[in-house]
Amino acid sequence: MSAPITVALLGGGTVGSQVARLILEQSDDLAARIGAPLELAGVAVRDASRAREGVPSALLTDDATALVARGSDIVVEVMGGIEPARTLILQAMAAGSSVVTANKALLAADGAALYAAAAANGVDLYFEASVAGAIPLLRPLRESLAGDRVVKVLGIVNGTTNFILSKMDEEGADYADVLAEAQRLGYAEADPTADVGGLDAAAKAAILAELAFHTRVTFDDVSCEGITGVTAADVAAARDMGFVIKLLAVAERTEDGRGVIVRVHPTMVPRSHPLASVRDAFNAVFIEAESAGEMMFYGRGAGGAPTASAVLGDVVAVARNLRSGGHGPRESTYADLEIRGIDQARTRYYVNLDVADRPGVLATVARAFSDNGVSIQVVRQEGHGDDAGLIVRTHLAQDGDLSRTIEALRSLDVVKQVVGVMRVEGEAGS
Ligand code: NAP
Ligand code: HSE
Repeated sequence: MSAPITVALLGGGTVGSQVARLILEQSDDLAARIGAPLELAGVAVRDASRAREGVPSALLTDDATALVARGSDIVVEVMGGIEPARTLILQAMAAGSSVVTANKALLAADGAALYAAAAANGVDLYFEASVAGAIPLLRPLRESLAGDRVVKVLGIVNGTTNFILSKMDEEGADYADVLAEAQRLGYAEADPTADVGGLDAAAKAAILAELAFHTRVTFDDVSCEGITGVTAADVAAARDMGFVIKLLAVAERTEDGRGVIVRVHPTMVPRSHPLASVRDAFNAVFIEAESAGEMMFYGRGAGGAPTASAVLGDVVAVARNLRSGGHGPRESTYADLEIRGIDQARTRYYVNLDVADRPGVLATVARAFSDNGVSIQVVRQEGHGDDAGLIVRTHLAQDGDLSRTIEALRSLDVVKQVVGVMRVEGEAGS
């Protein structure tokens, strides 16, 4: 057995305390797999006087900078946020430590700086836990699919919103009621903005897109819409048509092969699609590659122990690299595809309209679609008289044309209200 590999842990919260527990409880197995024991050098927290289950109090410190300065072989950053996480990671790399992080917010905001520092200092940067918690997803993208050409990545990458939308679908409940329940159960944070606003999913989408398309993609490149506008009526209408609403992260190569579009938005998915059966706080990601075809990755996207599993997998990978003198993959942005806006995406729409009920209304509405180059797939009238409504589903069309269609519909006298508009994914055909 070789000399111990030292590990400094920045953060001892939900994820960090579980990482510490697993390193201590599974020390024999980990040592056998690595060929050297892991030695926990310390756990940095804000309040070192507070005991943490599974973490010996002697290891706790409130001086993260001093812990990093000790130059451990591996620094695991699970404190979250942009600062001081970024400065500590850069200091760790400058001191010769490899870094494992679960910090999607930082990676999506400034991943390039972290990659550059890793390369400059000859250390590793691993971040499997940053997207979809426990699910092995980034390593398959970075390594297993390195010989293929990814066309599209499509997935549910936020457990909180999936829990809320699943409950709305199963119980017909209102968004606000289910959000309150999610908070009571501890799924949603006291401030749920990052989850329900789609920002957490957008950060993950940026990380996935960068790996999938070998192109630098940051949080600001992602078109993002959360679930706060999804109503019980939208969910019921989707159900009636055989669909379920999911918050999807979509990253796709454009048809000309030279661009990439990354978007996060509530989406109607056919109930027959595998993503429709992903309930509660689970995550699932579909990857379509030219040679491999379609693949789906499914599992727990959050939680202390599941996320710690992914972190530990990275720690073992880095430790093995240290033992062999090798390195993990560096940043790969050689393809440098053009980042394009959502208006250039090819999508389908569902549109729910409150309309006047008289001859010619359907023709006027249909003209708004055709004038903007959008082909209608299905149209259905609901109710009559004052309660008349039209539900329209379109064929594939350019998103910008669909947006212009909605503007045109809003300006029509015969349309009292555009009640609901949503993109549709996962249907076969055009
Ligand atoms: P958390 O429970 O809030 O824990 C954060 C930890 O970092 C706490 O121990 C906190 O100390 C410590 N900390 C924060 N700021 C610090 C500072 N300035 N100096 C020293 N220590 C500091 O967060 P978490 O849920 O474990 O998440 C950690 C990271 O994992 C985040 O990047 C998150 O996005 C990512 N992640 C989390 C999950 C999940 O399910 N929770 C899943 C995937 C990825 P105190 O304990 O003293 O406050
Ligand atoms: N807040 C995230 C979610 C978990 O609800 O999926 C951390 O990535």
